[in-house]
Amino acid sequence: MLTLEPTADLKAWWPRVRERLLAQRIEGGQRRDDAMAQVGGLLGDVFVDGQLAAPHRIWRVVPSDHDQQSGWVWLRHAGGEAVATLVAVDPGGVDHGELVDLVVSRLRGDGATSLRTSRWAGDAATAAFTVDRAVDVAGVRMVLDLAHDQQPAPEQRPSSVVLLVPMTRQQFDAYRARGVQHYADELVKAGVVTDPAAAVAASTQQHEALLPDGRETEGHWLWSAVVDEVDVGILWLTLNGVGRPADQAFIYDIEVLPDHRRRGHGEAILHAAADAARDRGAAVLALHVFGTNDGARRLYERQGFVTTEEMITIAL
Ligand SMILES: CC(C)(COP(=O)(O)OP(=O)(O)OC[C@H]1O[C@@H](n2cnc3c(N)ncnc32)[C@H](O)[C@@H]1OP(=O)(O)O)[C@@H](O)C(=O)NCCC(=O)NCCS
Repeated sequence: MLTLEPTADLKAWWPRVRERLLAQRIEGGQRRDDAMAQVGGLLGDVFVDGQLAAPHRIWRVVPSDHDQQSGWVWLRHAGGEAVATLVAVDPGGVDHGELVDLVVSRLRGDGATSLRTSRWAGDAATAAFTVDRAVDVAGVRMVLDLAHDQQPAPEQRPSSVVLLVPMTRQQFDAYRARGVQHYADELVKAGVVTDPAAAVAASTQQHEALLPDGRETEGHWLWSAVVDEVDVGILWLTLNGVGRPADQAFIYDIEVLPDHRRRGHGEAILHAAADAARDRGAAVLALHVFGTNDGARRLYERQGFVTTEEMITIAL
C-alpha cells in the first residue's frame, strides 16, 4: 500500500531532486554542464519567498512497509486543468506500476486527461508512466558531440558546398515574418497551442525575446545558405549561453527552400553549422525538432546527432 502526502520538508527534498534531475539527464546522454544549466532553470521558479510556488505540487510517496524507502513526485498542475506536467519522479524503493496507478488516479480525479513529461534514455521510473498508454512525441532534443563527430573534412564531403552569408536586412525581415508563421503552425500541429491566433502571438513573442536586436543580436548568427550563388536555404545558430553553457551551440532554425530539397543541401548546411560552431569554441551542437518532422530527424541521425530527450504527452 502506498499513499501520497504533500511534502512538508522542502529543504530535505531539494538536494534529492537536484541529484535526481542531474542523474536523469547525464544517464540519458547529456553532458554534465548542459544538465546543470537545464536543472538550474527548472529549479529556478519552484519557490517564491521560500514557499512552493503555484502550480507546483510535490507529493511524498509513503509506503506502508517501512522497510521501503519513500520517494516523491513533482508535478505542475493547479487542479482542474486538462494537462498536467510531470517534472520528475523518484519512486524511492516502491513498485513503479503501483505508484503510477496511484498518481494517475489522483490526477484524473483532479480533472487531468493527459500528462506531459520528458522521457530520458534509461529512466525506468518515468517510462513506467507510458506503459499501456497512448504516447505522443511532441518534440525531440538532439545533440552532436563536436569533439568526436565523424564528419569528413570539407574537401571530402560528397554533398554540395554551401557558403553561409549573413542575411541582408530585407532577407531577415522576410525570414522573420515567415518564421513567426511557421513556428506558430508547428505549435498548433504539435498540439502545444490549439488557437492559431494564440500560436502566432506566442511565436512573435518568442522571436522578439530571442532576437531583441534583430539580426544584430549578440551571440546569434542568421545566414543565407548559398550554393553556386543561389540562395538555397537559411541557418540560425546561437552560442549566447543564455540558459546553457557557453560551449553549447544551438541551431534555432535550419531550412532548405522547397525547390532545392533532397539534393544534399540540408546535409551541407549541417556540416557548415558544425564547422561554424566549432570555430566559435563550441564543444556540442544541439537542436530541437518537432516529433512530427520525421524527415529532419532522419537527416540529423545520419549526421551523428543523438536523441537525449523526448518531450512526450501521455493520455491518462
Ligand atoms: C529538413 C530539411 C532541412 C532537409 O533538407 P534537404 O536539403 O532536403 O536534406 P538533404 O537533401 O541533405 O537530405 C539528406 C538526407 O536526410 C534525410 N531526409 C531529408 N529530408 C527528408 C524527408 N523529407 N523525408 C525523409 N528523409 C529525409 C534523407 O535520408 C536524405 O538523404 P536522401 O535524400 O539521400 O534520402 C528540409 O526538408 C526543410 O527545410 N524542411 C522544412 C524546414 C524544417 O523542417 N527544418 C527542420 C527544423 S528542426
